[in-house]
Amino acid sequence: MATPPNTRLDFGRAMLRESLTKRLRALRPRPSKVLVVMDRHAQQAVGDRIERAVADAGLDMEVMLAPHGEKRKTMASAETIAARLIRRGADRSSFVLAVGGGVTSDMAGFVASMLLRGLRWGVVPTTLLSMADASIGGKTAVNLPEGKNLIGTFHFPEFVIADVRTLHTLPPREWLCGMGEVVKSAMLSGPVLMQQLENTAPGQLRRASNALVDLVRSCAHHKTKVVTADPFEGNQRKLLNLGHTYGHAFETTAGPTKLAHGEAVALGIRCALRDSLERGMCSEAYAQRILKLMARIGLPETYPGKLPAQGELRRLLLRDKKAAHGTLELIVPIRAGHNALIRGVEARDVAAVIRREFG
Ligand SMILES: NC(=O)c1ccc[n+]([C@@H]2O[C@H](COP(=O)([O-])OP(=O)(O)OC[C@H]3O[C@@H](n4cnc5c(N)ncnc54)[C@H](O)[C@@H]3O)[C@@H](O)[C@H]2O)c1
Ligand SMILES: [Zn+2]
Repeated sequence: MATPPNTRLDFGRAMLRESLTKRLRALRPRPSKVLVVMDRHAQQAVGDRIERAVADAGLDMEVMLAPHGEKRKTMASAETIAARLIRRGADRSSFVLAVGGGVTSDMAGFVASMLLRGLRWGVVPTTLLSMADASIGGKTAVNLPEGKNLIGTFHFPEFVIADVRTLHTLPPREWLCGMGEVVKSAMLSGPVLMQQLENTAPGQLRRASNALVDLVRSCAHHKTKVVTADPFEGNQRKLLNLGHTYGHAFETTAGPTKLAHGEAVALGIRCALRDSLERGMCSEAYAQRILKLMARIGLPETYPGKLPAQGELRRLLLRDKKAAHGTLELIVPIRAGHNALIRGVEARDVAAVIRREFG
C-alpha cells in the first residue's frame, strides 16, 4: 500500500494516454495484470484511450463495468466487483485501475483494499469532483442504507492521472458539482487559491481550459498536503469536511435528483458562513465574498423544495460520522485558509441555523 506522499499526481490536458502508459510501466514489481474497473459513462468517454495506454505499457488487461450511480455504491456492488475480478484472474500482483467519478473510485478502491488482503491500485478520475477531491487522499467507501460512506478503508493509490479533456462529455450539472468542492478547497487552502478562482472567468471554468488544469491541480495539492500531514484523519483532515455536515443532511432529504453532492456542499457552505457570522467568527465581507463567488459560478442558493421539520433535520444531522454523544463537530470558516473545528455542537442548534438560512 502506498503512503500518501508516494501517490504520484499528474494533471494536464490531453496527456492521459501517455501518462498512464508511463505510470504503469514504472510500477515495481511489474503487475501480472491490469484490472480496469470503470462505469459506463467513463468507458464511453475514455475507454479506448485507457485500453491503448495499457497495451502500450505491454501489460495484460481485463476491463469490467462497475455498477453505476450513488445508489449502487453499496456492499453488494463491491462484492459483485470483487467476484468479477477473481473470475477474471485477479492475483496478489494484479493492479486495479479505477476509471470514472468518485463513486467508481470509492468502490473500486474499497475492493482493492480488501481483495486478497489488498491490491495496488491507481485512479483516472473523469469527473471534476473526483479530480479536485474524491480521487485524492486514499479514502475508499461504500454506503449503507443508514448513511453515506459508513463503511470504508484508507488505501492510497499509486497514482492519480487527471486529464481535463476527459471532462468534455461531463453533463453541466456534474461540472457544477465539482465547482462546489473547488470553492471549499479555496476556503480551506487560503488567499492564493481563492484569488486564482476569483480571477478565472466563469467561461474558463466550464471547459477543459488550462486555467481549469491549474485550479484542479491546486485543489488536489492542497488536499494532498493536508492528507500527508494527517493521513488517517485527526483534526487537520477533518477540516476537509467544511460544509459537509449540512450537505450530507441536505443530500439525504432532497435526494440526488434534486440535489447532487457538490450542490449540497455549496448549500452547506452557505449555512457554515451564516453560523460563523452569528458566532462573530467571520466578517460580513468574507461571507459576501464567498456568496458572490458561488453565485458567479452558478451554484444553487436555495434548498430545493420544502425544508424538513426541525426534528427530522436533527435526526439526519446526528447520522454524520463525526457525531458523538448526540452532538456534532462543525467546521466554521473564519477567513481564506483559516477555519475552526468546533466540537460538542448541539444538533438542534445546527438545525436552527439551517432553518434561519433556508426557512
Ligand atoms: N474518497 C473521498 O475522499 C471522496 C471525497 C469526495 C467525494 N467522494 C465521493 O465521490 C462521489 C461523488 O463523485 P462524482 O461526483 O464523481 O460521482 P459519480 O462517480 O457518480 O459521477 C457522476 C456522474 O458522472 C458520470 N461520468 C463520470 N465521468 C464522466 C465523463 N467523463 N463524461 C460523462 N459522464 C461521466 C458518472 O457515470 C455519473 O453518472 C460520492 O459518492 C462521494 O461520497 C469521495
Ligand atoms: Zn464532498
